[in-house]
Amino acid sequence: MMENFQCGRWIADGQYMRDVPPEKLYQGFIETFTPGSNENACRILDDTGIYAITKQNWDSTFFGFDIARIEIYNNGTINKAHFDALIQWAKDKNISYLTTRASLANTSLVNFWAENGFKLLTSKYMLRHAIAAMNSPEVPEGFEFASLGPYELNEIMDFAGSSFGHSRFMADPAFTRKRIEEMYNSWLNNFLLAPENKIITLRHKQQTIGFCAFSKSIALYKLQHTMPPHGFVSLIAVRPEFRGKNLGVLLLEKTKQVLKDAGINLVFANVDLMNTGSLRMFQHSAYQVFNTFSEYKLALKYK
Ligand SMILES: CC(C)(COP(=O)(O)OP(=O)(O)OC[C@H]1O[C@@H](n2cnc3c(N)ncnc32)[C@H](O)[C@@H]1OP(=O)(O)O)[C@@H](O)C(=O)NCCC(=O)NCCS
Repeated sequence: MMENFQCGRWIADGQYMRDVPPEKLYQGFIETFTPGSNENACRILDDTGIYAITKQNWDSTFFGFDIARIEIYNNGTINKAHFDALIQWAKDKNISYLTTRASLANTSLVNFWAENGFKLLTSKYMLRHAIAAMNSPEVPEGFEFASLGPYELNEIMDFAGSSFGHSRFMADPAFTRKRIEEMYNSWLNNFLLAPENKIITLRHKQQTIGFCAFSKSIALYKLQHTMPPHGFVSLIAVRPEFRGKNLGVLLLEKTKQVLKDAGINLVFANVDLMNTGSLRMFQHSAYQVFNTFSEYKLALKYK
């Protein structure tokens, strides 16, 4: 069985596990994996891999219809029988909207989603950077770094929600722009409640003009012990009137220094293929593209 996992989604995506030997990773995953169905998930484990569909409780409550996500943990293939079992669960649970993803290099999975009615939403580069020893970056005169507390979100609310035109939600007419902006604000609020998350800001004349929201590690099932400590940049934005002055790069550099000071030597981020400005910003901060994946959706129809 283990050879089925040698180039699984995580290895292919590299986001979490690039430096962990696959045998160790999947052994740990399989040991902690519970197959079966319940209200929130249907999980299949057989000698071809692991196939799971999970209800996205937060998204479902927020948008007012039931949303679930399909994940495959093997060498990036799913057959019709497994797929039908997941879809049947979704229908039984009245799920009306499914999401999933595929690495662009995995043409058979890309084709499988297309043949089964999935629509492409967005494609993203996966970026990684090994953080070298560094000092705190120099801040231009009149600017200063700060960190944002849970009760200070209003400082970024007026530009945060409207900044993320490249998300998979924006790509889908099922969601209104207004609701997506509210979603980002609500998401940031929740984000700050978790201790591993942090938002650093850049301030200028008492005004917050940019922020970077990042995590110190990603809790992925019980596998944390198999992962090297790493950071993940979730969202970064600069007020429109301050863009193009290298402040985005400065925020990324500061984020790297905070991670490095916490003993973390590796950081990841995803950037939409269309967001060429953001990609340049990350590249100026020495991030490198190591993979590309697409996000898909399927609106389920009931007869
Ligand atoms: C992405 C973003 C944070 C960049 O901030 P910024 O302060 O303008 O970026 P910088 O000035 O540090 O940019 C560094 C490089 O990226 C380029 N760049 C950044 N944003 C750009 C844009 N919108 N269009 C074209 N180029 C852009 C700059 O030209 C510069 O490259 P160069 O020196 O080779 O010309 C900002 O544009 C933004 O808030 N965008 C909306 C939110 C977003 O898309 N976030 C990223 C996804 S989470």
